[in-house]
Amino acid sequence: MRLLIPAIVLGAASLLPVALAQQAAPAGDVARGRGLVAAHCTECHNGRTAPTFSQVANMPWWTQESLERNLSDGFPVRHGQLTMPAIRLDPAEVKDVSAYVRSLKGQ
Ligand code: HEC
Repeated sequence: MRLLIPAIVLGAASLLPVALAQQAAPAGDVARGRGLVAAHCTECHNGRTAPTFSQVANMPWWTQESLERNLSDGFPVRHGQLTMPAIRLDPAEVKDVSAYVRSLKGQ
């Protein structure tokens, strides 16, 4: 029993760096993403020219990962005659916009 308690304390301490590392790589900020989308995207993504982001969030192929990859690449999305213009976002903005879009899933 004497040996068990230090072993538990050590075990808990070894989990700490993992928890800290997760905090150090923040996910996108939903509120900032909402602002970026309002500034750069909703003029077209209004449900007429292009789908709304609630619709996009519920398309099964748009995961956090595929959104981030396509937004980083400037987004060469083409459906029929319509092409999504290349919009350059920096890596933090890409995470924010993706987090905002994903937050709309199910709405
Ligand atoms: C100048 C108009 C325009 C702007 C601005 C615009 N888009 Fe688009 N977007 C489009 C068009 C057109 C499509 C293709 C629509 C279709 O498939 O019917 C598209 C498609 C998309 C898709 C894929 C939807 C699907 O059907 O799979 C995503 C995701 C997307 N845009 C995200 C964004 C984001 C994020 C922004 C802002 C950073 C943005 N768009 C800004 C016009 C625009």
